[in-house]
Amino acid sequence: MEYNRRKFISFLGKASLGTVMIPPFITSCGNTATPVVSEKLSEKDIEKLKSRILKSLLPSDKDDLLLADGLNYHTIVKWNDKISEKDTFGFNNDFTCFIPLDKDNPKDGLLWVNHEYINPLFVSGFNDKKHKESGQQRTITQVDKEMYNVGGSIVRIKEDDNGKWNVVKNDIYNRRITAKTPIELNWDTPIKGKTTVIGTLANCSGGITPWNTFLTCEENYDGFFGETHYDENNVATKEPSNYYDWEKFYDYPPEHYGWVVEINPKDGSAQKHVALGRFSHECCTLYELEDKRIVAYSGDDKNNEHLYKFISSKPGSLKEGILYVADTINGKWLALDWENQPILKEKFKNQTEVLIRAREAAKLLGATELNRPEDIEIDPITGHILVSLTNNKSKDDFHGSIFKIEETNGAFDALTFKSSTYIAGGEKNGFSCPDNLAFDLSGNLWLTSDMSGSAMNKEDGPYMPFKNNSLFVIPRYGNDAGKVIRVASAPKDAELTGPWFSPDGKTLFLSVQHPGEQTVDLKNPTSKWPFDADNIPKPAVVAIQGELIEKMNKLSQLYV
Ligand code: FEO
Ligand code: CA
Ligand code: CA
Repeated sequence: MEYNRRKFISFLGKASLGTVMIPPFITSCGNTATPVVSEKLSEKDIEKLKSRILKSLLPSDKDDLLLADGLNYHTIVKWNDKISEKDTFGFNNDFTCFIPLDKDNPKDGLLWVNHEYINPLFVSGFNDKKHKESGQQRTITQVDKEMYNVGGSIVRIKEDDNGKWNVVKNDIYNRRITAKTPIELNWDTPIKGKTTVIGTLANCSGGITPWNTFLTCEENYDGFFGETHYDENNVATKEPSNYYDWEKFYDYPPEHYGWVVEINPKDGSAQKHVALGRFSHECCTLYELEDKRIVAYSGDDKNNEHLYKFISSKPGSLKEGILYVADTINGKWLALDWENQPILKEKFKNQTEVLIRAREAAKLLGATELNRPEDIEIDPITGHILVSLTNNKSKDDFHGSIFKIEETNGAFDALTFKSSTYIAGGEKNGFSCPDNLAFDLSGNLWLTSDMSGSAMNKEDGPYMPFKNNSLFVIPRYGNDAGKVIRVASAPKDAELTGPWFSPDGKTLFLSVQHPGEQTVDLKNPTSKWPFDADNIPKPAVVAIQGELIEKMNKLSQLYV
């Protein structure tokens, strides 16, 4: 759909004129901020803030984390940093989520960080191309090192008087969850004979629960322990991954991965939520209804896969309830409910099998194929659900779009909805391949792009005009309303992920993932960011601050 900026601005304007909808609880993959600005601004402050110009960065292929005027950053923690006597920070950080230890002190709390996958060259020294050509295989020591570097980290961080966030080294809460950590299944039936499984991996984006625990989502799990495929006669074949070779040492079934995992920040205990289905979960965005039942949205980030929502039948439960999948053509949520769907009863043995093979069940019900649904945010002003559809090259969609769901009567547990394109990627709007989303205190939308490292900056390729992956903001009010403004540009080969605002809205936590990913020779890396003494690229989490964020947080007061 052609993006119409005038229509878009008028939509934003209308939203701002109506009653501001502040849901009782609103948290999701990129944001804990509630759109309330309590500080009253003076006329003078308003004029001063209005005079500050938002200046977009130009696309850049420079190997650095570049920021727009009015922003600065410092690195909080990077790969291999010691976080305790026994643990180090993992690789390829993605989703971040900050929960204050004391809700009245926004400057001291626990930061969760996903570690999605590893680059063997950096982590275990296994050179995929060179070693595989010579027939060499990973040793178990190398595999163990790789398995340690995925999953997630919990680190206690504090903001000092100068605004700098520091890791509290050796804090009792600092810990790692890895591909070796035992994790319970929140389900009554064992899966492949187990009620506790080993490890979490492919942890891409995530979410937060109303009871203040972290959600981490297992996305491209098939790259680690393969996948089970079924033919037309429903006969299963296990297809190995052959990518990391972990299966050669550890015989864990694919069915133990591809779930939403909940982590208790205080003790690191974890559980996998089977009721939310098994697929390449990008994120999990929760909404708590007035009666405390939970609605959970999650996208399956694979070409031609689907968008799901779980509605719990009991307060605070991520187990009792029904998983639905979106038919966006007819605006219906279709129940993945074995008991009441004869077509599912015919193919699957029971509800557990429906949930394990959610993709097949969704297709049987007539779910709509989407262009790789990634991050999901609930607009704090309108209550609309925004879903990044990053791209689908198999359908010639190179630049993706942000998709909008409007639940009937604004009820998150509605079974019907309207959908439309919120904004399309492409040269006209200045961004491509939207991925993570976050709203700030004024309800401005921040988004990151995820053009793949191998496709970026290729002459004559579709991504050339956009240069390096970036962070953008779409102001909601004022002269720039609806414009896509580039506010950060990533180092070479990197992707900016996991944007999450601190509770006071003044810091944007952001992951810089896979800088120098295209490196083939450690002595000559394609990136050296963050430019530390080791002279190699390192994934890291940064804190972005500055007057541009402050202005954006107050934008609603300047123009409404
Ligand atoms: Fe790991 Fe869909 O990004
Ligand atoms: Ca992502
Ligand atoms: Ca992505």
